[in-house]
Amino acid sequence: PSLEKDFLPLYYGWFLSKRSSENLRKTGQAFLDELASVKVFKKEANKHFGQATEDPKVKIDLTSYFVKRPPSVLHCTTKFTDFGKAPGADDYAQQEVVKSSYGKAFFLTITALFITPRTVGARVELNEQQILLWPGDVDVLQPAVNLPKGSRAHVTLGCASGIEAVQTGLDLLEYVKLEKTGNKGEEVGEIGGGKLLSFGNGMWMLVLSKKIEVRAIFSGYYG
Ligand code: 2AM
Repeated sequence: PSLEKDFLPLYYGWFLSKRSSENLRKTGQAFLDELASVKVFKKEANKHFGQATEDPKVKIDLTSYFVKRPPSVLHCTTKFTDFGKAPGADDYAQQEVVKSSYGKAFFLTITALFITPRTVGARVELNEQQILLWPGDVDVLQPAVNLPKGSRAHVTLGCASGIEAVQTGLDLLEYVKLEKTGNKGEEVGEIGGGKLLSFGNGMWMLVLSKKIEVRAIFSGYYG
């Protein structure tokens, strides 16, 4: 037991297989490329995505905008334990379900892709079994907005310069908060893969017409 306490990971999560990571990266890339060519998006992009030009003929490059990308396989963080220093780290790690799931394989369901001026990510829909591994204290937007369990579940695909990955989950919670208050986004139309929604303030979501299943192992990352 003392060993477990001493050696908690930086974070727990589902780590996508190499193949699923590659496929999801490609899907994210295709989304960014296509979004950058959508007229209504282009009109707004100067304001939110810091493109240096107003010239409509100049191609917007979201790939270079979201310059920070996860270096290895993609993952969906469950609990950021910070080697045991994060609040609730021990409680999470000591749960029977966490221990018994460690090293086990899962299929995660991706339902949407989203961007904000800070991050680009994939929304994950957790099933009943997966929700058991979800911490009770992370679906919170300060100050004091509690959202349904699992709302924050996501895979970070990229961050703008100077933005840390932790922001992706907070950005997704912003979407969920808007949805909760009745703002389901403005339908812009169909693009490759699904329905494009605009939520304003540089927030765009692609609701996938066909959900993506990815293979992933539940484990810990030690850095
Ligand atoms: P992410 O889950 O959005 O990708 C290492 O930094 C990983 O832990 C990243 O994947 C990051 O974000 C996540 N992370 C970092 N700090 C966090 C925090 N305070 N709360 C939750 N997740 C965090």
